[in-house]
Amino acid sequence: MDGAVAPKNTGGFDVARIRQDFPILSQKQRGKDLVFLDSGASAQKPRQVIEAMTRMMESGYANVHRGAYLLSERATEAYEAARRAVAGFLSARSEREIVFTGSSTAAINLVAHSYGRGVLKPGQAVLISEMEHHANLVPWHMLRMSHGIELRVARVTDAGELDMADLEAKLADGKVGLVAVTHMSNVLGTVTPAERIAKLAHAHGAKLLLDGSQAAVHRRVDVQALDCDFYVFTGHKLYGPTGIGVLWGRMELLEAMPPFLGGGDMIAEVTLEGFLPAPVPAKFEAGTPPIVEAVGLHAAIDYVQALGMPAIEAHERHLVDHAMQRLSAVEGLTLLGHAQDRGGVFAFALDNAHAHDLATLLDRAGIAVRSGRHCAEPLHARFNVESTCRASFGLYTTEGEVDYLAEALGKAREFFR
Ligand code: ALA
Repeated sequence: MDGAVAPKNTGGFDVARIRQDFPILSQKQRGKDLVFLDSGASAQKPRQVIEAMTRMMESGYANVHRGAYLLSERATEAYEAARRAVAGFLSARSEREIVFTGSSTAAINLVAHSYGRGVLKPGQAVLISEMEHHANLVPWHMLRMSHGIELRVARVTDAGELDMADLEAKLADGKVGLVAVTHMSNVLGTVTPAERIAKLAHAHGAKLLLDGSQAAVHRRVDVQALDCDFYVFTGHKLYGPTGIGVLWGRMELLEAMPPFLGGGDMIAEVTLEGFLPAPVPAKFEAGTPPIVEAVGLHAAIDYVQALGMPAIEAHERHLVDHAMQRLSAVEGLTLLGHAQDRGGVFAFALDNAHAHDLATLLDRAGIAVRSGRHCAEPLHARFNVESTCRASFGLYTTEGEVDYLAEALGKAREFFR
């Protein structure tokens, strides 16, 4: 590897060795070392995930919950073992509280459709925040339009933190039935105070959904300790495959919710006159589920758990501190937000350079970042910026890569001057 981005180990976390698990990271990009700083969009996959999925397709694949033959029984066992792994990962009380979906987006849409229409009443409100990904905004707009739900939005402070006084004020009249907020912003990196939000929501008679798409990758999630009511995350940001997401919900809530999609596997009984839904979680898993993807997600969970979520968090905390230091020293660079509690996601703008132009220039140096509004248009409007570049870290990100980014940004400033 080029000296500029050579990994340095942080606190016993052997990044150099870990990087060997990710075949793609040893690629050259335009003749340069690939510096992959877009893990917030989708993370790279370790060999352990790739191999588990290949093995499943080569020797263990069949549809689940259907065949009375050995291969199908084994595939069903592998699929259900993945559910148990996810339950353990989130510290859920039971694997029956884990619903597999196609993505975080699908999981939030499931709650919006099923809990939103089946449990919330017109006239009640859903409270989100200004820093939501569109996946935790548009489904609520749709519910507002179709079901007469009021949509309230808690403000974000200039530091990029959730304005807790505003959140509390918007809960005060007791009309909010559900608070749905991110656990970690995909733009600001801000980690929201989930336990405090849960206390406030519950004190005002509301349930809490946390969008953990970013957070679940970077720190240990314990849904009991967080005391939330729904938690969603996605496989592909957690070093697993695309095409699988997770909805965790409290059993009593999932049981009270009507099914969302209808089809095979979600029924206990069906006639031409009607149907009886299957028990949770099958009630929410219509159609052939993401079988190979569940096996891949299981392997990804085993992978991060073997490294240890606290060790991953400590490594990334070190990187975040280092990035704050290095990036805030780049002249002409504006970072969006500077929350106290944050993870490895940095959105920035450079003087007059357009975000797409800057990203293109960084790409020439082998650095992959996302540019645009990162599916968070209202947040960009809140900070009065048209678009930003975003660097986001994974467990394989190194201090050397952060330094290389800071140097490339310094040179870019000269270029755009
Ligand atoms: N939600 C992903 C991101 O923030 C795609 O980039």
